[in-house]
Amino acid sequence: ERTPVLTIDGPGGAGKGTISSLIAERLGWHLLDSGALYRLTAQAAVKHGVALDDETRVAALAKSLDVAFPVERGVPQTLLEGEEVTRLIRTEAAGERASQVAALTLVRDALLSRQRDFCRAPGLVADGRDMGTVVFPEAPLKIFLTASAEERARRRYQQLRENGVDASLSSLLQEIQARDARDTQRSVAPLKPADDAITLDTTRLSIPEVVDRLTELLVQRG
Ligand code: C5P
Repeated sequence: ERTPVLTIDGPGGAGKGTISSLIAERLGWHLLDSGALYRLTAQAAVKHGVALDDETRVAALAKSLDVAFPVERGVPQTLLEGEEVTRLIRTEAAGERASQVAALTLVRDALLSRQRDFCRAPGLVADGRDMGTVVFPEAPLKIFLTASAEERARRRYQQLRENGVDASLSSLLQEIQARDARDTQRSVAPLKPADDAITLDTTRLSIPEVVDRLTELLVQRG
């Protein structure tokens, strides 16, 4: 029997990360944060002095990416070549660099099988931009999570503030709009809902409301 996959795609700041990890926890399924792989690839390029538009070399880094996601005292950590980069890869600048390397075909190809390796029993929640369209096209339930750009900027702002990071709401909104434009307009694996995806606008929904709605949908799809 095939391992079930729930794909959760959508623009940055729609709440995919939070929702995906809550659902994975509730179901006891594995979690793939595909954005982290693009962030880590960009970080590896910075670390090794590779230009972000050097497609061949960045793809080679993506292919041999040495990453681990251990949990220390209940807190998930991200290691790149054994070095802790959990916070480092979460900055807006790191997201921007991720979006640059994510536009390169060879980089996306290099990360494809690595992403599919996350699909193990009893199931997988896959969070990203192209989980339902490219990486797991056979997934029985595909969700496209959105929210207005203003609401997403506001959520990012709060999240950054909670982590003690200084931020400006208006520049966050600009960055979100710029990243949306790059992610939706790129020629390779552009951000768009799969034909069979269910779109959920979370602008006016709380996190528990979204989790409940998705759990209902999963039960319906059995
Ligand atoms: O989701 P997150 O903000 O961590 O993703 C960072 C960037 O990585 C996105 O802006 C997007 O350009 C890229 N990405 C992608 N495909 C994915 C996940 C992320 O292109 N599946």
